[in-house]
Amino acid sequence: MVEGNFVFYRNFHQEYPVADRGEGIYIYDKDGRKYIDGCSGAVVSNIGHGVKEVADAIYQQARKLTFAHLSRFINEPALELAALLKEFAPADLDYTWFVSGGSEAVESAVKLARQYFLERDGNSTKYKIIGRWNSFHGNTLGAVAIGGNMPRRRPYIPMLKEFPHISPHYCYRCPFGLEYPECDLKCAYELESVIKREGEQHIAAFIAEPVVGATVGALPPPPEYWQVVREICDRHDILLIADEVMTGFGRTGKNFAVGHWGVVPDIIVAGKGMAAGYSPLAGIIVRKKIAETVKNGSGHFVHGHTYGGNPLSCAAGVAVLKYMLEHRLVENAAKVGMYLGNLLRQELEDVPVVGEVRGLGMMWGVEIVENKSTKKPFDKTVAASSRATKILMQKGLIVYPGNGAADGVNGDHFIVAPPLVLRRQEADIIVSILKDGLLSLSKELLR
Ligand SMILES: Cc1ncc(COP(=O)(O)O)c(C=O)c1O
Repeated sequence: MVEGNFVFYRNFHQEYPVADRGEGIYIYDKDGRKYIDGCSGAVVSNIGHGVKEVADAIYQQARKLTFAHLSRFINEPALELAALLKEFAPADLDYTWFVSGGSEAVESAVKLARQYFLERDGNSTKYKIIGRWNSFHGNTLGAVAIGGNMPRRRPYIPMLKEFPHISPHYCYRCPFGLEYPECDLKCAYELESVIKREGEQHIAAFIAEPVVGATVGALPPPPEYWQVVREICDRHDILLIADEVMTGFGRTGKNFAVGHWGVVPDIIVAGKGMAAGYSPLAGIIVRKKIAETVKNGSGHFVHGHTYGGNPLSCAAGVAVLKYMLEHRLVENAAKVGMYLGNLLRQELEDVPVVGEVRGLGMMWGVEIVENKSTKKPFDKTVAASSRATKILMQKGLIVYPGNGAADGVNGDHFIVAPPLVLRRQEADIIVSILKDGLLSLSKELLR
């Protein structure tokens, strides 16, 4: 091995074990320590680690063709994956545009929304994208601008093109101080007020995560939310973009989370579970009317990335999707996910630092608070979610932390989202480690 360590780490103040191999829900480090991947990395490894069929598919493709630029060629894995996705996605979301990561996919979605109106109407004035506070759509500047994750936004604010944001459906800390269902979904109807204020002639799309992921920690919407926003978008000729980078590919117990509410978005943004960590792959799945407006217009989406439609990544995507379908992992996510969620609620209810357990399917969030009855968050300097993560990692369980949700500065949570292959006995072990770890955290922080 070459001497020295010149990796530009995500956090130079943190120690990182060397991840060596993975199998099922487990990751092993170089020293032989075993960790339960309780969050699928960053809600990525949906089919678990070390699936031979996927490795074989990548190997076979690597021997045949690894790159041919999409400006000159199409390739078989991309054709096959797009055809599979047409069946896997709802209604007439028939066409897929491939990229390598979720942020690139978000950029593609918002640019396509703008181009769609230009192609459809000629000189369209529609260009603004409405987002939500407490949302995350990626780390490229466009995605940061439409997102609403304050800790990730704050350093870059002077560099952002600002667009309107509406309030989140954060019922545990309702931004309007109301309670569901008496609130009459004020948060969803705020979309309409913002559209009126800005002028619908300037708005191209509304983008939201069906279950809010990284910023708040697995926050599902009130049941009518997506139907309300769909109807508002239709009434004002605005595209509805569902950012399913985290929630897609079975994570919430449906192919895509919008399926829980019978809503058909105009564009689904997909990533993470699409190739489940076997290769970088993401994309946007687009309604027929949008793709065909471009097809019958200029014919050319003014956008593109070098690795879009990469044969290796698409081969991985095909193998992952086939594996998911063959092993009925969407159904398992629904069934074992509900078991996991119920157990988390039951076992963590009395833990002093646990404010709320929430989620859907195999995507759960735990909000950590200083005071359970007042919901007061810990001060940011306590770094409660990082501490929780550290304690749990020492106990062999990996979770995905986040902060800043309560007021843009303070607030701690983490996501529990194991691979969709999880079995009940493994859910029992996860919850037992979590309870133990969070009781230790409570003792440490509430002395
Ligand atoms: C909802 C959502 N959108 C977009 C992204 C960005 O994806 P990537 O990190 O692959 O660029 C993420 C990543 O966590 C996400 O959760």
